[in-house]
Amino acid sequence: MFIIIDGIDGSGKSTVFKIWAEYLKEQGKKIFDLKTYWNEHHKHPEAEELMEYDVILSGEPTTVWTGAAIRQEMIQNGKNYTPLSLANAYALDRLVLYKRIIVPFLQAGKIVLQDRSVSSSLCYQSTQNNGLSMDAIASIEGNTFALEHAPDHFVIANLPAEEAMRRLGNRSEKQDNAIFEKTEFLEKVQKKYLSEEYQNFFTSRGTRIHIFDANKDIESMKQEARKWIEKILP
Ligand code: TYD
Repeated sequence: MFIIIDGIDGSGKSTVFKIWAEYLKEQGKKIFDLKTYWNEHHKHPEAEELMEYDVILSGEPTTVWTGAAIRQEMIQNGKNYTPLSLANAYALDRLVLYKRIIVPFLQAGKIVLQDRSVSSSLCYQSTQNNGLSMDAIASIEGNTFALEHAPDHFVIANLPAEEAMRRLGNRSEKQDNAIFEKTEFLEKVQKKYLSEEYQNFFTSRGTRIHIFDANKDIESMKQEARKWIEKILP
């Protein structure tokens, strides 16, 4: 079972993700949190280290190797890497993550919850000025590989860009200085998430798409997230 959540910056993905993780923990599942591992070890674990676990919590960009280069350098304001370089970097980060961890873990019949994936590249790198077409993005090796392992469920956190930017502004603990956190840009990205052309990349591969209404107070959002995961993973 492979579940991906995506949406614009500030759309509430991490709130939903946390509720799902809590639910699985309550169910007695053994959970491996990649982000914690990356922070402590500055590298990816070996797939064999993970086989005693039931669930992996994952996210992209990662924070190690290529993921660290993306975060610490390439998407910082003022750095001006081309959309093609960014698309290649995200795809390489993804290829290593999927090859080394995600695919072997799924093949062992386990559960992966992931925050962002090729679903972000298709939206963001096609919306950048002088961006690539979605087909060109999909044809980069890491993206092709990720699409071959498309998720069972793809949840899109849906929130108007203005509200997302307002929430980002209130978020003192996480100031990214990243190039994508601009209302006008996120508005276009948000529209793309809802477009048929975009969603087709997943539905044509058997993925079920769910639009999650994030435009409500945090308590209602948490309840909805809990109801959803209970339905999908009883
Ligand atoms: P983000 O989800 O904000 O990271 P975190 O919340 O863990 O700090 O991701 C960083 C930025 O990268 C975000 O603005 C979206 C962008 N992004 C892309 O443009 N393409 C991609 O393929 C991915 C995975 C992310």
